[in-house]
Amino acid sequence: TVYQATASAPVNIACIKYWGKRDTKLILPTNSSLSVTLDQDHLRSTTTSRADPSFQKDRLWLNGEEEEIKDGGRLATCIKEMKALRRELEDKDSSLPKISGYPVHICSRNNFPTAAGLASSASGFAALVASLAALYQLPTDASRLSLIARQGSGSACRSLFGGFVAWQMGEKPDGSDSYAVQVAPREHWPDIHALICVVSDDKKGTSSTSGMQRTVETSTLLQHRIKHVVPERMRAISEAILARDFDTFARITMQDSNQFHAVALDTDPPIFYMNDVSRAIIALIVEYNRVAVANGGKLKAAYTYDAGPNAVIYAPKENIKEIVELIVKYFPQADSFKDPFGLFSGKGVT
Ligand code: DP6
Repeated sequence: TVYQATASAPVNIACIKYWGKRDTKLILPTNSSLSVTLDQDHLRSTTTSRADPSFQKDRLWLNGEEEEIKDGGRLATCIKEMKALRRELEDKDSSLPKISGYPVHICSRNNFPTAAGLASSASGFAALVASLAALYQLPTDASRLSLIARQGSGSACRSLFGGFVAWQMGEKPDGSDSYAVQVAPREHWPDIHALICVVSDDKKGTSSTSGMQRTVETSTLLQHRIKHVVPERMRAISEAILARDFDTFARITMQDSNQFHAVALDTDPPIFYMNDVSRAIIALIVEYNRVAVANGGKLKAAYTYDAGPNAVIYAPKENIKEIVELIVKYFPQADSFKDPFGLFSGKGVT
């Protein structure tokens, strides 16, 4: 018998940013966060896992290149935890094949550039955990699996769900209450689209992991953010999503992106993730919204930036075409973007 399974997980883009850990080993955050998981086809990781008694040890290939599975590292932890869940099942049901003891070979691929601030670790660890869950035929629900994906990369816990997803920070020191929950499925608000503007697909300067640790150690603004800002924003944006209130959703998303980059700047030494093109895209969206409001309308788009210069623009479907036209008009250098505009649903723009 061949024991093998394949699973995919998409990238998620946070509206309320995770930035800071209270426990670096268990990956427990200093604040809750909330994201939108993109549709399957566009930015995703696909992972195949196979268990076989003839394998010598666990091995993993990422985009065709073997990655070392360091003892006690994030990969080893996720694999170990998944094997433990399988073992529990085998202990309960003696008719199950005892594959939890077999070494696994894991092969993962991204259909987009790695480490370009496009959250490849999020989809990567989510797909890894999902493929092992399929291989081991675990009856486990997505929130339970998110506890394990979280230990691979914090933001990965949110990619186990589609749609609008919250990662509840939890309080317990063992991390058992720090997992992802779905706020609303994608179908709840199909009108929201995301436009990804790849400003640069270079590897980023400061990794999220080391950057956020430095922020925890040196930024006073982060303390204000986690205590006095994020809890209320989490409440308000969840409410806005449930009410399909784009105006509020957009305001909070842009404010939180701005505060995350302010906190990065408040780090010693400071961290800059956005570049001149990123800032120019912000100016364009601000002006686009200003004109809409001046004409008695509501906000038409929201920008957000993760730990890199690439822009993600959330907008109702009817505005997407106009936004793409604006960006093409004001950014003639757009031709030099490696992959100018990946539309996550493919719908709305021709
Ligand atoms: C800016 O999840 O990559 O994208 O837990 O150390 O692996 P680790 O960090 P990671 O950080 C993501 C940071 C962010 C914001 C977010 O996705 O919420």
